[in-house]
Amino acid sequence: MAKTLSFANLKGGTGKTTLCYNIAALFVDMGYRSLLIDLDAQAHATTHAGFEPIKIKKGVFEAISEYLKKQSVDSQVILRQQGLSILPSNSKTVLLEEELASLTNKESVLKDFLMELDRDFDFIFIDTPPSLGLTVLNALVASDYLLIPVRFDFFSLVGLAQMINFYYKVNTTLSPYLKLLGLIPISISARARVCNDVLNELRTTFGEKLLFPTLRNDIKVVEASSHGLPVHRYAPKSRASEDLTKISQEILRRLT
Ligand SMILES: Nc1ncnc2c1ncn2[C@@H]1O[C@H](COP(=O)(O)OP(=O)(O)OP(=O)(O)O)[C@@H](O)[C@H]1O
Ligand SMILES: [Mg+2]
Repeated sequence: MAKTLSFANLKGGTGKTTLCYNIAALFVDMGYRSLLIDLDAQAHATTHAGFEPIKIKKGVFEAISEYLKKQSVDSQVILRQQGLSILPSNSKTVLLEEELASLTNKESVLKDFLMELDRDFDFIFIDTPPSLGLTVLNALVASDYLLIPVRFDFFSLVGLAQMINFYYKVNTTLSPYLKLLGLIPISISARARVCNDVLNELRTTFGEKLLFPTLRNDIKVVEASSHGLPVHRYAPKSRASEDLTKISQEILRRLT
């Protein structure tokens, strides 16, 4: 049985895609069968993995629509990049929200869909769009664990409170086994004081146990994404590669 992890935060630009893609790729190099699902119509994870969304004829939206009709998943939809399996996205993914809304089991479609893929993977990583709509709800209901990337700025903390409330709501109603694995701080701002203030605030509110090591600001993250590669392959000696490895190891430690 695969373990499924969602990266979610309604706030945009908090590092969801960066973490999801790089961690999924690092898990491949740690010897695990790893599947990345791109649930965002922006298709940044798909692009990050080196694919052009415009050329994706069958992405996650088409795959789920077909599954709803035939009750089976076409394995051809899964792309591969250096050992990582990817269920890609394209602009059609935006239609998923509407498609789901018309169904009676609207919250658990992705969960049912993933049961078809479960045996082929050890870990499934889901990158979600910055919202709290039905698509993200489906990701959470389909997941065993939730990871919330938090960027170091004041507005991220406001968004975080809403995200945590959403998690508790899902956890107490639809998905009692969904566990909040932790918050992953990400420091894109170079202003050290802001970072320290936010980190202290997170420590006080959530405690050390929920906090993951920080992904520090590093231009190699941006460069790697434009080369369609994970950071640890693009710049193995970079501090981002070091941080992402630490975060991945900590995820693994908390899961076992
Ligand atoms: N550690 C880092 N150092 C420098 N830049 C970073 C770092 N992490 C992420 N970035 C950059 O910050 C931007 C936002 O990151 P990312 O796309 O991962 O956020 P997101 O939460 O997925 O955004 P969205 O909500 O739009 O999906 C990207 O351009 C990414 O390359
Ligand atoms: Mg993203």
